[in-house]
Amino acid sequence: MDLLQSIISLTKRRGFIFPSSEIYGGIGGFYDFGPLGVELRRNIKDTWWRATVQERDDIFGLDAAIIMNPTAWVASGHVASFSDPLAECKACHKRFRADHLTDKDKCPECQGQMTEARQFNLMFKTFVGPAEDTASIAYLRPETAQGIFADYKTILDTQRAKIPFGIAQIGKAFRNEITPGNFVFRQREFEQMELEYFCKPGEDERTHEQWIQQRLNWYTDYLGIKKENLRVRPHEKNELAHYAKACVDIEYQFPFGWAEIEGIANRQAFDLTQHQKYSGVDLSYFDETTKERYIPYVIEPSCGVDRIMFAVICDAYQEIEGGRSTTTEAVKEIEVVLKFNKAIAPVKVAVLPLVKNKPEITAKALEIYKALKPHFMCKYDESGSIGRRYRRQDEIGTPYCLTIDFDTLKKDDVTVRDRDTMEQTRVKISELKKYLSKKLGTCV
Ligand code: GAP
Repeated sequence: MDLLQSIISLTKRRGFIFPSSEIYGGIGGFYDFGPLGVELRRNIKDTWWRATVQERDDIFGLDAAIIMNPTAWVASGHVASFSDPLAECKACHKRFRADHLTDKDKCPECQGQMTEARQFNLMFKTFVGPAEDTASIAYLRPETAQGIFADYKTILDTQRAKIPFGIAQIGKAFRNEITPGNFVFRQREFEQMELEYFCKPGEDERTHEQWIQQRLNWYTDYLGIKKENLRVRPHEKNELAHYAKACVDIEYQFPFGWAEIEGIANRQAFDLTQHQKYSGVDLSYFDETTKERYIPYVIEPSCGVDRIMFAVICDAYQEIEGGRSTTTEAVKEIEVVLKFNKAIAPVKVAVLPLVKNKPEITAKALEIYKALKPHFMCKYDESGSIGRRYRRQDEIGTPYCLTIDFDTLKKDDVTVRDRDTMEQTRVKISELKKYLSKKLGTCV
């Protein structure tokens, strides 16, 4: 099995990511996140929120509605031009993104003749209210950003914000991608973490540079992604979106190649100017100190939870040929360890009684498990040999396994096994919470 397939198969087998509504044959471009996936996503989102909102004084949070007044999407330019070129095979009728075809005249599946490309709008349409007519058409948002621009003035006024300041939002976005693919990399429903940082025109280029550096640091310092698997790729002039003066992508080296996980664009005053024009509401900013009035520029670091989660899993994934267990029961096969940054691991602590047929030991293990559960995401596991249980936890990236044995009953301590070094340390039960909190702290 190739690396990508091994990773995909692990995420399904262990409950990270499943195809959506699989019992009905699934639906292209939609995925569900299982018990471990949902924890990993929550940790990634919490980490972003902490770095972007909680630790700063100049950025405010927002949770805007997914469906907006449809005029917002006219103003933003999405109704007119949020599209990809689509070409269809005249023989098998499969549809493809024309700009992704290596040979524009031949179908990559059946070699049939292709139609001329036409623009296909990626926004999902729906109807608001009981009438299904053109007056009630609305859109599922294709990016969270426009909710931020529409609420910019309300936040400015209610929070008494001063330029420069930002508005951050995490939420679902929807795009009717012509060819979803590469697992969760390109989906039709996905989640974005977007920041719109408003600044004075003229300050935009410096602010853009600062955000590129800060966002890169977030990947390495908060998520623990390896530096060598990240790169910054500036957009060529002909790739720039119509609103952007400059843009860079932060790319991750996936098993299928380098690909974008975040875009950081200088959107200038495009969005606020458009929303001012279409809404008739004055969105200019008055600087009390300099007595200047202007429409702020905006720097936008925009990333996707799904692509980051995928990158985090790929980065953490390690296969160890022949295994690394030292127990006599070591199974000599490929062992998988997910070496997540400890702060974002879905399960932080596994509590394992050495044997399950000694009631004093299992009772003690359950007591410790219940005491730690309110503080850390914990799992209790008593089935199978201790070696197998360690391997099960390694495979889902649990940083610490606690083993409760006969000595625990005499000395009130447990063995703490570290996922990465496999070092085993005896720690007093009374010290466990403090010990684990320190070890699990973020790596910043
Ligand atoms: N507001 C700007 C914006 O939406 P984008 O480059 O289209 O820019 C930003 O999207 C991020 O959203 C991407 O870097 C990617 O991480 C994520 N993203 C975009 N389309 C996606 C899709 N179809 N599936 C998964 N994630 C996607």
